[in-house]
Amino acid sequence: MSIKKVSKEQPDKFEFNPKNLEIANKIISNYPKGKQKSAVMPLLYIAQNQNHNWIPLAAIKYIAKVLSMPYIKVYEVATFYSMYNLSPVGKYFVQICTTTPCMIRGAYKLVEVCKEKISEKEKSLSKDGKCSWMEVECLGACVNAPMMQINEDYYEDLDKEKCEKIINQIINDKKLEEIIETIYQNKIPKPGSYSGRINAEPVNNRKTLLGNKNA
Ligand code: FES
Repeated sequence: MSIKKVSKEQPDKFEFNPKNLEIANKIISNYPKGKQKSAVMPLLYIAQNQNHNWIPLAAIKYIAKVLSMPYIKVYEVATFYSMYNLSPVGKYFVQICTTTPCMIRGAYKLVEVCKEKISEKEKSLSKDGKCSWMEVECLGACVNAPMMQINEDYYEDLDKEKCEKIINQIINDKKLEEIIETIYQNKIPKPGSYSGRINAEPVNNRKTLLGNKNA
């Protein structure tokens, strides 16, 4: 597991924009009185989305104030989970799972692709500043190993060639750059399994529950 790096360059101020403030207040209101600090994780996530996929220290202070929590408690949460970035990442943020099931199914071949195509060192931006990558622990899609996450989508049942194809699409397709704002609607590159199976169904066809279409 890689060590979390806090950016040396930090903005002086952070606060939620009006839309995110509304969402944050709605989330906080889901918790009983006195338990508002339970909203710390979704609030950190909102801050990360608002700030181009990374959380500045000013946002941690801001959230601590909003939830009446000690700064260090919010900092502990933000530094513990790999889903929170504390320094800038690329617009395309590639996370390769290298935990055992993915590792024995070839995850380090995907790491090689990232080193070659994005940057030799993890957590460094590519030359054009568009992409960055890092190794992460299990992302919960072990049945479809090896896999990677790009921004909020999962790409599964990969091998070196398939990974290369996806990364090339990200790096080279100018159209992708133009439609970055709507990438989730367009689903390019298409997320999901790259072996042709649906979700996590058996690789060599189903052997049980044959009468149940949705099992
Ligand atoms: S081990 Fe890679 S997703 Fe679980």
